[in-house]
Amino acid sequence: MLDPSLIERAFGPARAALYDDQFAPIGAIKDLIHLMVRVQFAQLPDNAHILVVGAGTGAEVRVLAPLFPGWRFTLVDPAPAMLAIARRHAEAEGFADRCEFHVGYLDSAPAVEHDAALSVLVSHFLADARERQDYFEHIAERLVVGGLLFNADLSAAPEDPAYESVMELWLRMLEHAGPIDRDAYRGIFGRVVAAHGPSQVQRIIEAAGFVDTANCLQIAAIRGWTARRG
Ligand SMILES: C[S@@+](CC[C@H](N)C(=O)[O-])C[C@H]1O[C@@H](n2cnc3c(N)ncnc32)[C@H](O)[C@@H]1O
Repeated sequence: MLDPSLIERAFGPARAALYDDQFAPIGAIKDLIHLMVRVQFAQLPDNAHILVVGAGTGAEVRVLAPLFPGWRFTLVDPAPAMLAIARRHAEAEGFADRCEFHVGYLDSAPAVEHDAALSVLVSHFLADARERQDYFEHIAERLVVGGLLFNADLSAAPEDPAYESVMELWLRMLEHAGPIDRDAYRGIFGRVVAAHGPSQVQRIIEAAGFVDTANCLQIAAIRGWTARRG
């Protein structure tokens, strides 16, 4: 798990201020993820309550809130600087009254039942498989039975024969957004970012109590899953 000092380094005030624009050249990736979420979640009732874990600066809520004006959102994130920006966006864009902001990890968030949960580019920060399962169990505990999950993460395992091709493509993708230190980036897999391949991530999600799990999205090293709470 990213401990508070790593959260501060990776998502503290200086990084948070850059976050929204940093990956703009590859913003189409997030657009596609948001489109998938929007289509999957469109089956929810008009008054649905959505849990957004690792909400960051509020990217997912900024897409969903205007489209579904009856939905309410719980935004959970341990980085106060990221969530402060999410709150500012929500106020400026007129949906703050439908949002609850919880600074902290999910286990400290209220155990309210939601109709659906979203986790975009978060659970890969849990490099330990048991901790990653705990994370999804905490999500499941906050969903109604049958509640929807959309999860997207970096997912690449060095033992996978496609690893080198996928990682190379991912590094090129990041370079499309700006220069990176390739060796340092590769070095974080297995330490700061999980080295769990897609089948392992899917097993972890299922072991946490989800069913109908489908690996429905791949963009280089990013994978996305839909599922329901069993
Ligand atoms: C890469 S950002 C993604 C933010 C947002 N979902 C998006 O797609 O723009 C990852 C976010 O997850 C948060 N995070 C990291 N570890 C977390 C954990 N264990 N539980 C909840 N949030 C976490 C970070 O603070 C950060 O805001």
